[in-house]
Amino acid sequence: MIKVSPSILSADFGNMQRDLQMLKDTGAEYIHVDIMDGLFVPNLSMGFPMVSAARKCSDLVLDVHLMIDRPIRYVERFCDAGADILTVHVEADTEENTKRALEMIRAKGVKPAICVKPKTPAEAVLPFIGMVDLILVMTVEPGFGGQSFMGDMMPKLKKIREYLDQSNPNCELEVDGGVGIETAKTCVENGANVLVAGSAYFKAEDKAAFVRTLKSYA
Ligand code: DX5
Ligand code: ZN
Repeated sequence: MIKVSPSILSADFGNMQRDLQMLKDTGAEYIHVDIMDGLFVPNLSMGFPMVSAARKCSDLVLDVHLMIDRPIRYVERFCDAGADILTVHVEADTEENTKRALEMIRAKGVKPAICVKPKTPAEAVLPFIGMVDLILVMTVEPGFGGQSFMGDMMPKLKKIREYLDQSNPNCELEVDGGVGIETAKTCVENGANVLVAGSAYFKAEDKAAFVRTLKSYA
């Protein structure tokens, strides 16, 4: 089954409650929340208060993507704020600290996940593959919504799907960046089962139809 995770980075921040509530009638399963620190990526977005606020006004799965340096410092607070899935970047700290962060997330009863930036090879997920419930493959450089999809990430996505089939078949495989009606299909063909969509989702006139189309690629 294909799941859709609209990214609220492209929502109307002045009408966040409306946009969050609207989401549950579209058939999307997840809500993607992008956290940026101005260091790991050259942009700032939102923090704990937005995760808690989203938790209060939606029952959907909160899929929180941390684009922050040394996330081990903050993972427990994001779990307490209401994340259901908490994703850290493999590039954001040492292997040892990343593993420790994933254990801390698991101990909080939250699903641990890792993410790889475009220049990071597929093999970088291997040290963590048995510890995670989701792997996120970036199809743009993290930091901004509305960028163009990088089709050349598809071989990496496929390779990670093969790793998962071998050693962690229940782990989800998510793509993030430039995903829309046209690009989602190739992501699914290459093994993704969770599709993040920011600008394409919020620009869609009929959001339920948009979600249905993405899910039809299964
Ligand atoms: C980028 C973020 C994405 C972003 C995707 O750093 O991780 O989640 O919101 O936006 P679109 O779908 O517009 O590329
Ligand atoms: Zn994201």
